[in-house]
Amino acid sequence: MGFVNLLTMAKRFSGIIAILLLLRLTTAAASHEFCDAGMGYNVVGCGGSDSSSRRILIKGGTVVNAHHQEVADVYIDDGIIADVKPNIKKSHLQVGDEVAVIDATGKFVMPGGIDPHTHLEMEFMGTDSTETIDDFFSGQAAALAGGTTMHIDFVMPVNGSLSLGFKAYVEKAKKSCMDYGFHMTITKWDDTVAREMEIMVKEKGINSFKFFLAYKGIVMINDELLLEGLKKCKSLGALAMVHAENGDAVFEGQKRMIELGITGPEGHALSRPPLLEAEATARAIRLAGFINTPLYIVHVMSIDAMEEIAKARKLGQRVVGEPVVSGLVLNDSGLWDPDFNIAAKFVMSPPIRAPGHGRALQAAVSMGVLQGFHVVPENTGKSAFGKLVGTDHCTFNSTQKAFGIDDFRKIPNGVNGIEERMHLVWDTMVASGKISVTDYVRITSTECARIFNIYPKKGAILPGSDADIIILNPNSSFQISSNSHHSRSDTNVYEGWIGKGKVEITIVGGRIVWENNELKVNLGSGKYIKMPPFNYLFDGIEKADVSYISSLRAPVNRFKAMQ
Ligand code: URP
Ligand code: ZN
Ligand code: ZN
Repeated sequence: MGFVNLLTMAKRFSGIIAILLLLRLTTAAASHEFCDAGMGYNVVGCGGSDSSSRRILIKGGTVVNAHHQEVADVYIDDGIIADVKPNIKKSHLQVGDEVAVIDATGKFVMPGGIDPHTHLEMEFMGTDSTETIDDFFSGQAAALAGGTTMHIDFVMPVNGSLSLGFKAYVEKAKKSCMDYGFHMTITKWDDTVAREMEIMVKEKGINSFKFFLAYKGIVMINDELLLEGLKKCKSLGALAMVHAENGDAVFEGQKRMIELGITGPEGHALSRPPLLEAEATARAIRLAGFINTPLYIVHVMSIDAMEEIAKARKLGQRVVGEPVVSGLVLNDSGLWDPDFNIAAKFVMSPPIRAPGHGRALQAAVSMGVLQGFHVVPENTGKSAFGKLVGTDHCTFNSTQKAFGIDDFRKIPNGVNGIEERMHLVWDTMVASGKISVTDYVRITSTECARIFNIYPKKGAILPGSDADIIILNPNSSFQISSNSHHSRSDTNVYEGWIGKGKVEITIVGGRIVWENNELKVNLGSGKYIKMPPFNYLFDGIEKADVSYISSLRAPVNRFKAMQ
């Protein structure tokens, strides 16, 4: 029986049986038991043979990059895109017999999605800590089934140590079946952390650091630490990222809800209104402006926060706002559902907002993506937001969510999305005419590759790029259900969604891993992608420092008083 079928079965059982089955699967993945268990996987790296073709010719599709689209063929050889042009003839390839030919007529051939924001196998939320249910195997398998071929996950330090955190994540990621990169989270400040940040950038391939302005008493940092972090990021050419909510005020809001007797999931949304997201967003933007370093605001969920970003961009500040798919397409009504299990699955931070916010964020995405790639003077005056869309995939099953059955503060925060993002963005934004297909490629793949400095290895269909490709049929449809998804979770916040446009084929590292609704992933085949510092947001930043220094008219040369 395949892993996928087993998972589906496990989800149908309730309570303990499901947990036992899922635990069995978790252990199996971790111990490479998949190699022996006949789970239907073609496993590279533990004795399995990989029979899939190393040469693939995709014929007749519309090949889409962020800058251009045309009907062309794509030839893949040994994991790399070898050629992209119209009418490549199989007989002209001089490569022997083994070329798999895919007919993509009438379909879009696009770079695989890159998800800038995930939390796989992450321990989270302090004393009541629990671990996200998707690990680097199940989370990535889900991603591939939905057309995402790379993601960037947030490493959590171990007792504040970045090196120990990095080591732990290297271990976790050994199960990978697609390429991945790491951001690093900073939860405390001292000389060791500062030194380790340098090692992370110069030796370990990390070019971004996340600071939490919320989760008081768990991972929240104060302004003093944020300023230290921003300075260090700037000196290393690393991108500073913030979770922008005012954690002290959220704490106050939570107390207020409990005092009012509001203990259910709706209390989560009521305790941390958009105002608190806007305050922290504005504060982080101003502090990054004060240091003069680029800033990336993760999971922007409200109009209020988005407007702070747009305002800063209008003034020429280098700020990236990352909308996530839950914030774009969902609204907060689920949090008021009388069934705790349904309501709790929507708990994430910042919270999913009232309906108007999602629509406004969608509009901002469609405006943002119309501007050019580079932060250059002629672009800085335009409204800009959301040139990429992430997921914040951070999945807990209903048993884990039930830790907070009597107190919303204990519900582990996070929702799914790694498998659904590509479909939902297509359905909501492209099929509805809000953005073009080239914009779709930009926001689901290319801009992420550019911001994290791995373009055009990733994020493009160009000769020399990695062969991470999807084939999407705009005339086909998709349906989302926890019975058929590939996450280990027994719930899905997009349950029942039916939409247009289906990823029919996913190719990762030059291998077809998703076709005919079947997954053939290779445990351990994913590679860690090092991401170099000094992305395009840093271009010319030193000029602003020079003009700042020369604008000071100080120190003033004063006459010494006569003795
Ligand atoms: O609720 C969320 N967003 N969980 C994941 C951790 C984070 O804040 O990104
Ligand atoms: Zn966050
Ligand atoms: Zn997150």
